[in-house]
Amino acid sequence: MSAEVELQNVSIAFGNFYAAKNVNVKIGAGEFFSFLGPSGCGKTTLLRAVSGFLEPSQGKVLIDGQDMSGIGPNKRPTSLIFQNLALFPLMSVADNIAFSLEVRGHDKVQRRKRADELLDLVALNGQGDKKVHELSGGQKQRVAIARALAVEPKVLLLDEPLSALDLKLRQKMRTELRAIQQRVGITFIYITHDQGEALTMSDRVGVMNDGELEQVGSCYDVYEAPCTPFVATFVGENNAFYGKVEKVEGVKVKVQTGGSSFIGQAGLGLDKKNYKFKAGDEVIMFVRPEAISLKGNSKKTQNSFSAEVKTIEFEGNLKNIFLRSAEDVDIRFSVPSSSDTSGMEPSKNVSLSFSQDNAVVLPTGALALD
Ligand SMILES: Nc1ncnc2c1ncn2[C@@H]1O[C@H](COP(=O)(O)OP(=O)(O)O)[C@@H](O)[C@H]1O
Ligand SMILES: [Mg+2]
Repeated sequence: MSAEVELQNVSIAFGNFYAAKNVNVKIGAGEFFSFLGPSGCGKTTLLRAVSGFLEPSQGKVLIDGQDMSGIGPNKRPTSLIFQNLALFPLMSVADNIAFSLEVRGHDKVQRRKRADELLDLVALNGQGDKKVHELSGGQKQRVAIARALAVEPKVLLLDEPLSALDLKLRQKMRTELRAIQQRVGITFIYITHDQGEALTMSDRVGVMNDGELEQVGSCYDVYEAPCTPFVATFVGENNAFYGKVEKVEGVKVKVQTGGSSFIGQAGLGLDKKNYKFKAGDEVIMFVRPEAISLKGNSKKTQNSFSAEVKTIEFEGNLKNIFLRSAEDVDIRFSVPSSSDTSGMEPSKNVSLSFSQDNAVVLPTGALALD
């Protein structure tokens, strides 16, 4: 059984500081939804309001349409996995998992049966008698998930549960978590500052900045059609060309940036309609590193410019090339490692281009900090 979760105009204040500002979102029953944003943007605070450890200062949390005001954490159909897992290290795995069932008066046999079922679910069959401190980081993670599922919640809340694991294990656990979510079929609300995690696991993502929910959409939407400069630069890498609108033709926008003019597409606003620009508007044109290529097979729809190579960074599957354009804009683009970059030594000038279709024009606004 899964439940729908709705936040209606939720604001949360600590003194006169607002950690969450007028957040509105409806998360579907059975959905894997992630709140994604930098550290300190209010993710944990929001999750605590859903779980009942914190009451919103304004607005409401509804679960399956029912107002949760005044209903404590133990009375809600939610279960929360804390960032530090909070397992009992000296207790056995099975006792950790069944702990909440003991509190609820289930007998020993029932508890063990349920613990064994949950151990199967998280791929830890036969590990119930081990002590928690004997387990690896990834196994502890699974125990925490099993324990949270023991109370049969309709909504599982996960607060950056993978942040303590190393990269390989984190990547493996992403796939695992998604599979567990699909097996149990309940709503998962996941919070993370890691865009890779959010994009690989979620049905939809809500991008948060400074207590506000800036954009909610599919992973594809927030990557391909960011509504704000913050979302454009927080989710994945982006090159930002600041400039002024020269001309508008339908959704095509010609932008004067430094000495060059580039054509791009007006980005989509939160209402899913293209921004309406006029000549003279201050804008930022965003171009993803993978959308830039060495000029050569230049087509009509290409914007081109020249830039000086600064450094080349090897990243296994990719090479990242950092350049400075004639207009003093820092540019980054990436090519597969197998690409020939022999003509690109530092301080050389190269010609680059990108398609008009891959350039998103947005109103100016703050970028995500690097
Ligand atoms: N109990 C509290 N009292 C005062 N300020 C708090 C409290 N909890 C969180 N904050 C502040 O609210 C902001 C958001 O915190 P948090 O929700 O933990 O962010 P995140 O989980 O996104 O890193 C931070 O500036 C934090 O310092
Ligand atoms: Mg947090």
